[in-house]
Amino acid sequence: MSKVTIVGAGNVGATCANVLAHEDICNEIVLIDIQGNMAKGKALDTWQQAPVDGYSTRVTGGDDYALTANSDIVIITAGIPRKPGMSRDDLISTNAKIVVSVTQNILKYTKNPIIIVVSNPLDVMTYACWKASGLSDKRVLGMAGVLDTARYRAFLAEEIGCSPKDIQAMLMGGHGDTMVPLPRYTTVSGIPVTELVKKERLDAIIERTKFGGGELVNLMGTSAWYAPGAAAAQMAVSILKNENRIYPCCVRMNGQYKLKDIFVGAPVKLGKKGIQEIIKLRLKKDELELLHKSAEAVTEIVGALDKMNLI
Ligand code: NAI
Ligand code: 2OP
Repeated sequence: MSKVTIVGAGNVGATCANVLAHEDICNEIVLIDIQGNMAKGKALDTWQQAPVDGYSTRVTGGDDYALTANSDIVIITAGIPRKPGMSRDDLISTNAKIVVSVTQNILKYTKNPIIIVVSNPLDVMTYACWKASGLSDKRVLGMAGVLDTARYRAFLAEEIGCSPKDIQAMLMGGHGDTMVPLPRYTTVSGIPVTELVKKERLDAIIERTKFGGGELVNLMGTSAWYAPGAAAAQMAVSILKNENRIYPCCVRMNGQYKLKDIFVGAPVKLGKKGIQEIIKLRLKKDELELLHKSAEAVTEIVGALDKMNLI
């Protein structure tokens, strides 16, 4: 029996529910939103898709947190998305209040969920959720790296003219312009990417990846949802199936990579206990410097959040 609650039935949340329902591994998915009827309607629509696409997952929705009781996983996508001209960090005060209140409401009905945060600014909202929840830092994580590596992999596949399925990649750091894609840990069916893509092109792809979210905001007037929703669903699948997939996720560092008490992206094993392990890569000096620079950018926003005394 597994139950997943998704809070925020907007673009990302509804997509995530739809993708996860298609996996057919949960008994129940609950969509919660302050716009209760919208959540109820999108849940009903996804449930009515079940006979067409052939899955059994029951999908329900509304604004009542009683519906979320005893969830195994909660995915928080509630908040406002980026608009053109806004950075992810511009969302901090509005989204922090939302994430904290959502976390408190969830814990009224579920004692020990695994929580995947999606709301932006991602690393800081994951910290806010963890702090408000009092949960173990193995059970609160953020979705960013799966999306950011997906963008990097898609751009590389286009460059090489191969299937994106054959690109494996790792990326670390915060979900912002300082994120750290790692070409040394990028392969194409086992072939180091540097053997297939020239340095100038690889550098250009890394730059495009760093600003990949902004590229979509400029095109659509709001932030992306298909890849983000699917990325969060993929993390939930690894946890529900206890697959121990290794994904880049936003996690609380406890001394790994000489970082402590900060939520930032790193490779982790995801399984039934949440974060089963943070994988320690042997980063080179320049890679570690980039990671620390990215962590500093996150620390700065955490400082701004702490000053607001919301948690
Ligand atoms: P959206 O505006 O389509 O949906 C957000 C939903 O949250 C709305 O339906 C709204 O009614 C709901 N909401 C607001 N306050 C709430 C509350 N207190 N309780 C319950 N529901 C509440 O936005 P979208 O595009 O789905 O994005 C959601 C968040 O995810 C944004 O913060 C966005 O920046 C972030 N995001 C993060 C990504 C990542 O890689 N981590 C990628 C894409 C988006
Ligand atoms: C994205 O990367 C804005 O975080 C959002 O698409």
